[in-house]
Amino acid sequence: MMAALKIVELGEPVLRQQCRKVTVINKKIKKLLDGMRETMYRSNGVGLAAPQVGVSKRIVVVDVGKGVWELINPEIVFQEGEEMGVEGCLSIPGVAGEVNRAARVRVRALDRQGRQQVITAEGLGARALQHEIDHLDGILFIDRAVKIGRQES
Ligand code: NI
Repeated sequence: MMAALKIVELGEPVLRQQCRKVTVINKKIKKLLDGMRETMYRSNGVGLAAPQVGVSKRIVVVDVGKGVWELINPEIVFQEGEEMGVEGCLSIPGVAGEVNRAARVRVRALDRQGRQQVITAEGLGARALQHEIDHLDGILFIDRAVKIGRQES
């Protein structure tokens, strides 16, 4: 069984860096994807970005109940609408905030075989994708939140 990775928390510089694009999808990247997925599930998160496990690369995993999306070099190529919703982040435990996001997005990325994939999502899926892709540019939900409070856990 794959061990869960350590999640870094607010204050770690890696969370504020611009992540590098993945140029070669090798064994190490696939192992990272496996570890990120495992870590997301064990933490009961709906998404996780590589900088949250200390790796400054453009990789995210998301699962909003439709199976795992593994996204390498993801880019939002289309977005529309607006929706306010509550978010939290595994790197900022105990904090929740209301964030305005696009209601629908289309994301283009590579899968672990290096093939182009396009994912269209709305609601929680759209929110999770925007939140995780923000991480790759060093942006945290607290930067965008209009209201922030303690999260009961
Ligand atoms: Ni987060």
